[in-house]
Amino acid sequence: MKQPAVGQSMDRVDGRLKVTGAARYFADHQLEGMLYAALVCSPVSSGRIAAIDAREALRAPGVTDVISHLNAPPVPGYKQETPNPKQGLKIFHDDRIYSNGQPVAIVVANTLERAVHAASLVKVTYNQETHATDLYANLDKAFQNKNMKDYLRGEPDAWKKAPVTVEAEYNIPLEVHNPMELAGITAHWETPDKLVLYAKTQGVKSVQQTLKNLFQLPEQNIVVHSLFVGGAFGMALRVWPMEVAAIIAAKKVRKPVKLVIGRKDMFTLVGYRPAAMQKIGIGATADGKLTGITHEAVAVTSPYEDFTEAIVGMSKFMYACPNVNTHYQLVPLNLSTPVWMRGPGEATGSFALESAIDELSYKLKMDPLQFRVINHADTDPEKNLPFSSKYLKEAYEMGAEKIGWKNRTMEPRQLQEDGWLVGYGMSSGVFSAGRGKATASAIFGADGTLTIRSAAADIGPGTATAMVQIAADATGIAPAKIRFLLGESEYPEAPRQGGSSTVSTVGSAVSDVCKLLLQKLGEMAAESMPAFKDVKPADIGYEDGQLIVTGKPAIRAGFREVLQHRQQPELQVTATSQGGEERRKYSMYSFSVHFAKVHVHPATGVVRIKHVVSVADSGTIVNAKTAGSQMIGGVVGGIGMALTEEALIDHRFGRFVNNNYADYHVPVHADTPPTDVLFINKKDPVINPMGSKGMGEIALIGFAAAVSNAVFNATGTRVRDLPITPDKLL
Ligand code: MOS
Repeated sequence: MKQPAVGQSMDRVDGRLKVTGAARYFADHQLEGMLYAALVCSPVSSGRIAAIDAREALRAPGVTDVISHLNAPPVPGYKQETPNPKQGLKIFHDDRIYSNGQPVAIVVANTLERAVHAASLVKVTYNQETHATDLYANLDKAFQNKNMKDYLRGEPDAWKKAPVTVEAEYNIPLEVHNPMELAGITAHWETPDKLVLYAKTQGVKSVQQTLKNLFQLPEQNIVVHSLFVGGAFGMALRVWPMEVAAIIAAKKVRKPVKLVIGRKDMFTLVGYRPAAMQKIGIGATADGKLTGITHEAVAVTSPYEDFTEAIVGMSKFMYACPNVNTHYQLVPLNLSTPVWMRGPGEATGSFALESAIDELSYKLKMDPLQFRVINHADTDPEKNLPFSSKYLKEAYEMGAEKIGWKNRTMEPRQLQEDGWLVGYGMSSGVFSAGRGKATASAIFGADGTLTIRSAAADIGPGTATAMVQIAADATGIAPAKIRFLLGESEYPEAPRQGGSSTVSTVGSAVSDVCKLLLQKLGEMAAESMPAFKDVKPADIGYEDGQLIVTGKPAIRAGFREVLQHRQQPELQVTATSQGGEERRKYSMYSFSVHFAKVHVHPATGVVRIKHVVSVADSGTIVNAKTAGSQMIGGVVGGIGMALTEEALIDHRFGRFVNNNYADYHVPVHADTPPTDVLFINKKDPVINPMGSKGMGEIALIGFAAAVSNAVFNATGTRVRDLPITPDKLL
């Protein structure tokens, strides 16, 4: 028997395409007669458009059209009772301005430069109204919608009665995904009712569904191509109004239109992690048993949509604590709508909870690692179910060993290296291990190749590579003979790449379609091959790309021979896979532990992360190389969250002031320390055939708290407002 493909550090199947520039991202597609679009965006943050004068823009060289609410073709799916403030932004539908940077017109020209120039010539006047962009100045507007239920287990605010308590407020600023690849779309109406798109998306099928409703077209009349995506982190999980703007423009000018938005527009048009204020009250007995947690959060949303996420989720189930209550509210501000950003909800919530746990451990004079072990939840206290698998204690031990946790001092400010204060910190992360519904088709050819298709997405983690490995093990066919194709809406249905669930969801469909393929080959052999004449299909198995028969080692046939014998060029099968039953019996989560060793300069307050150890309990690791890269990527995102990322708004104007890569700091190579990624790599027994739980989110979740906790250990200063910039340590 060959070594299984799952578990190998296989090179990415599309790695060569990516590093040689042969991979084509949405903006790389050139269509015949294609025109270029540029947006005209509102410089006011609230009000109405008074007038649009496009005359000068229309006279500029190469300009085809200027489209706004004054002349846009109607979008049939916009609900007519306007403006209903909670139905999303219906672009070019009316004169309302909800946020700074909202597109008010789109200019189409024969070159990008001409479109951008002409956009600057469009004169828009506004009737400005007062706006609100400051969360803290608008807390009185906080509300809960009907989906935002308070949670209570045991007694509310029980922490207040505990002998040892911490009560603190934690704040995270608005953060922006900022993948390298800019957002946009190329839209082409091939006929008045057939729309072809080259999109940057985490889900081609979901784009198709959204536009089907918006433009009232049959599904098959919307074709979405998205073969490669240059990073997304959640920003490409939905169709944005600016994409609809380009589609409207293409419809009006009857030519393909390409829109690529600028970096500054990445702050206003494609979502963000909402700024949030959190309060934690937490209490324990003197010997370190948690008695109560209260977690309250207020986060930002837009005027026209309520965006909610699991900010207070982790506090409900992470620790064995008899009394927990949570409360979560939204404040609508004159900003665009937030969207899921890597580790959505939990990344925000874990900063508060895992900081508070650390704070309480100091009050208890107890090692924070020990404190977590004492309060380890052996079963899920929220759902009252056993965990499908949980190796968090092993993860704590592995990480502690690797970072050298024994070198940490209980008292802060005790260690120095080369004139820098030294501190150690840790925290836990958790994210739901999901499994959705997906379909895959498989074509096995008489040439011995296997091609699997599913309308999945790949925003970078190496989806196709993992799927090839799963298919190789499910069939015994060599990885080199297997192709996995994704990113086309015509392929069988798959959900968006989000919530760390692609391997679980699409991998299950791949595994199932491979099993079905082998079953069919067996049936075909039993039906038509003389050697298999008296063999029952149920006795047919496979080994190394051959059909074998239980108890009859002499009878074998290569998969290809079955097709060749029947002179059949290929065999195609399709399978749909969906979990379900197991979720009623088990609580499923991936867990992570992050350890950080930091240096803090006593004179300047500069924080340097010297060493990171991140341990993931995410079930079977399909590919240690791509999984390791994904964990490192999450750590890099976590370093940004901890130390540098903060989208700043000048509230006088409601405008972002650091809306570029120079001023909004994402960590660069020099900010990135040696990072050890360790995997528990133990199969989850129930979640899916591979035993793989998700990993993308837990790579980041908790990380910022680990850094903050390390900074406290180094300095004795507790920073509860991210990012931890030097001024906060002086
Ligand atoms: Mo992720 S925030 O589910 O793309």
